[in-house]
Amino acid sequence: MSSNQPTDESSRYPDVVIEGHEYDGIKEYDNPMPGWWLWIFYATIAWSVFYIAALGMGWIDDYDAQLERGKDRIAEKQAAYAAAMADEDAVEVDEEYLADLLDDDDALATGESVYRTRCASCHGAQGGGGIGSAFDDDEWEHGADLMSQYAVVRDGVLSAGMPAHDSMMSDDEMAAVVAFINTL
Ligand code: HEC
Repeated sequence: MSSNQPTDESSRYPDVVIEGHEYDGIKEYDNPMPGWWLWIFYATIAWSVFYIAALGMGWIDDYDAQLERGKDRIAEKQAAYAAAMADEDAVEVDEEYLADLLDDDDALATGESVYRTRCASCHGAQGGGGIGSAFDDDEWEHGADLMSQYAVVRDGVLSAGMPAHDSMMSDDEMAAVVAFINTL
């Protein structure tokens, strides 16, 4: 019997052996569960009651609802993406559209960077001309209106050495650079 007694004298609980609970010589003490363990256990019970009630009341989404919400979000993103792509393709460049870009700082910044990489070599860093015409005067051989300039940029004047830019950049970039050369 003495082998059942605790060797640790500082134990807070009297170690009472549960009668009849002996398996292959292993016996069980009837010690209470530690307080911290019990509180966690009670908390899980309280949580389960709250959780079931909340599910029933619809405060918390069940699995199907979460799945639906996720699918809705994916559909929303796909729709937004499709709309954005459609917008990009649907730029209708006309005189008014180009005129608006003259006050559009973002477009002018885009236009400037396009100009530096694609146009400056022929038209001059400041638009003073060179192989190509000057933009810092008010003379436009192919038409002073913005749409005429846009058409030259888009289709080029191949016989005179002005390349077509249609296949090199988007409509937006061509529009932006047309706006930019009018600020030179
Ligand atoms: C390879 C040289 C070259 C490049 C690069 C070039 N151009 Fe030109 N561009 C020319 C030439 C040459 C002309 C004159 C065409 C003519 O005399 O009919 C011209 C004419 C133009 C005109 C018509 C000017 C007028 O007086 O009506 C515009 C607008 C123009 N270019 C814009 C651009 C823009 C914007 C870019 C860059 C996206 C660009 N060009 C790139 C050579 C070039």
